[in-house]
Amino acid sequence: MKKQVKSKERVAERGEVFTAEREVKAMCDLVATQCDNVDATFLEPACGDGNFLAEILDRKLARVKKDAKSDAITWEWLSVRAVASLYGVDIMQDNTEECRQRLFDKWNKAYKTACKKSCNEETRDSVRYILSKNIICGNALTMMCVDENQQDTQDYITFSEFKTCGRMYMLKRRDYRLDVLLKANKKPKNQRQLTLDSSVDDIYNYLDTNPVTGEYMPKPLREYTPLHYRRLKENG
Ligand SMILES: C[S@@+](CC[C@H](N)C(=O)[O-])C[C@H]1O[C@@H](n2cnc3c(N)ncnc32)[C@H](O)[C@@H]1O
Repeated sequence: MKKQVKSKERVAERGEVFTAEREVKAMCDLVATQCDNVDATFLEPACGDGNFLAEILDRKLARVKKDAKSDAITWEWLSVRAVASLYGVDIMQDNTEECRQRLFDKWNKAYKTACKKSCNEETRDSVRYILSKNIICGNALTMMCVDENQQDTQDYITFSEFKTCGRMYMLKRRDYRLDVLLKANKKPKNQRQLTLDSSVDDIYNYLDTNPVTGEYMPKPLREYTPLHYRRLKENG
């Protein structure tokens, strides 16, 4: 059985007690339909070494196997999208790195089984690249990146969306700030609130208001030209 605690100090300082597999599975069962959808997005905001993300990836890869049948290219295409749908934040650098590595190893093991001699380094590089962008060392309360002492830096937690764009095997990347994303689909309380807030925080530079519903719509920090799923690293 996997250890749930790394040290007493970490439990006291950060509440670091990892969830047992049985509970993880039971909670994922509550959202079984979404876990069975390659593109459904998940964020684990205090992800540790990724207990929930790992279980969700297992379930998504089971869906990929069914849909790809024995076609290696389809398996790559769908599985890269499955990895790109997972997001995590943890305040501890070691947890963040363990989470990225764990998800990569899980994906890579399934990749070798499914694609055998068709496996290639370009696809592996794309999966590593996605994980480096979407599993972030940061403070999920302040939504800022942190340094090695868990202190906030000046950098906002930013995630990359890698989305299909109507062209086969091509993914379009858009980067968004997490604090901006969390305002999506909410309505400003009133105009005065909006004005007051915008004077102290530039978050409103990254939000449009839907003219029909009045709800916030996040604007990306940056948009990129669509790339083949094997060449995502070229986004820099
Ligand atoms: C209770 S553990 C849960 C880990 C994992 N989600 C699981 O269920 O196994 C809490 C995690 O939150 C992280 N953490 C604590 N404060 C945090 C913060 N402000 N922002 C992001 N992560 C934080 C800890 O490093 C730890 O890995």
